[in-house]
Amino acid sequence: MSYVIGVDLGTSAVKTVLVDRSGKVVAEHSESYPLSQPKPGYSEQRPEDWVEKTIVSLRRLMEDNRINKGDVEGLSFSGQMHGLVLVDQNGNALRPAILWNDTRTTPQCRRIEETLQEKLLGIARNRALEGFTLPKILWVQEHEPEVLEQAALFLLPKDYVRYRLTGEYAMDYSDAAGTLLLDVAGKAWSQDILAAFDLPASLCPPLVESFDQCGTLLPAVAEQAGLLAETKVFAGGADNACGAIGAGILEEGQTMCSIGTSGVVLSYEERKSLDFEGKVHFFNHGEKDAYYIMGVTLAAGYSLTWFKDTFAPEVSFDELLSGIADIPAGSGGLLFTPYIVGERTPHPDSSIRGSFIGMDAVHSLTHFARSVLEGITFSLRESIDILRDSGKKIDKVISIGGGAKNETWLQMQADVFNAEIVKLESEQGPAMGAAMLAAYGCGWFPSLQECAQAFLRASRSYSPNPETAQQYEQLYKLYRSVYGATRELSEQLSPFRG
Ligand code: XUL
Repeated sequence: MSYVIGVDLGTSAVKTVLVDRSGKVVAEHSESYPLSQPKPGYSEQRPEDWVEKTIVSLRRLMEDNRINKGDVEGLSFSGQMHGLVLVDQNGNALRPAILWNDTRTTPQCRRIEETLQEKLLGIARNRALEGFTLPKILWVQEHEPEVLEQAALFLLPKDYVRYRLTGEYAMDYSDAAGTLLLDVAGKAWSQDILAAFDLPASLCPPLVESFDQCGTLLPAVAEQAGLLAETKVFAGGADNACGAIGAGILEEGQTMCSIGTSGVVLSYEERKSLDFEGKVHFFNHGEKDAYYIMGVTLAAGYSLTWFKDTFAPEVSFDELLSGIADIPAGSGGLLFTPYIVGERTPHPDSSIRGSFIGMDAVHSLTHFARSVLEGITFSLRESIDILRDSGKKIDKVISIGGGAKNETWLQMQADVFNAEIVKLESEQGPAMGAAMLAAYGCGWFPSLQECAQAFLRASRSYSPNPETAQQYEQLYKLYRSVYGATRELSEQLSPFRG
């Protein structure tokens, strides 16, 4: 028997999956870690927690399933994007990591735009958003200059964990693309951007492909993790790039919709000269010399979790959603916008907040639950529209994550997107993408595409219902008008927020 392991370093937990040569997930294990919000808008984690829990998860994966160490050929990573880890010359993390969903950096984003002007989109291909890494580095430069002075290197979350497992520094292109320091089309650190902010080039780690090997396990780590020190470690990629690989989004015309804490719509792209004027993200793929275009709804699954925790903490998700199929499209005239932590696509706006429009005395908890799902789906449709406007044909979408776990929601995606929705058999998301990078890196397949053909199978597809799709078309127009109608109100309410 031979296996590879995919490690998905998420925001709430690390998940490890053990995959055999046929693509079957033989075992999986997950370990959670805390998220700290010391001030409103702040979101931090301890890099040490990631390392500790990753090693525990690997050990439990191996021991609980009595796997022979010698059977694991390699492992690779998928990681939450953008999080800033600063390390000193001995590789020690200098402060807690500042995560992708931390919004303290609005002034630094404005500084980046003013300093770089059109160079920002020209080189980094993305707008300055609070979640990205460069604004976080500038925040440390302004607020904790002594920390930046001690920093030998900056890393992203999974790169820090990989470093601790192997002793080697590296960052792959797909994750580096989310820093705003990468020349995305040129696949090199941008000396222009570094110089504009007085950042030394030495702060940036060596760049590698996602399927490149970055050493093997340190003997002490191998011992703790229940693996052999010879186990090959491959660079891995950003969670969205790995989600794409794990859903088989590896050629032109393929699109996926992934609903986790945040939600993304992502399409494969090879044309590096496309200009979306920063309306959507344009990042390097984990596949060599390929890209993906992506729109992000910041609070997708998070809107549903927030709703349940706040208004129905005593019921399970299944109970909460059990009656939604009996409520017609439009939730009885209730519209939800999922801007509960601000928004990215198509409105890069950290001040906007969510709303329920049209509340009526007849509405029940189930109407609200359906309306939350509809609002999240409408928001993702806005990203699909931007991709369609660029000339992309989107008639089939692979749906993964929480949004693929509920039949009514899958049908809703088909009706709102007006596209066929495909659900995968045994869908593992980014963890599977990470395992596929290890399988390809180990030489199990001549290409990632051939690995996807062997590993991934569709289980069901959902076609749009023309009548419901028509109703959603009308509702979607109303949904789109809510942003403009509530923007100023949100802004004026912002001083009253914690
Ligand atoms: C992408 C983004 C999120 C994180 C979540 O730009 O910020 O999808 O990667 O882990």
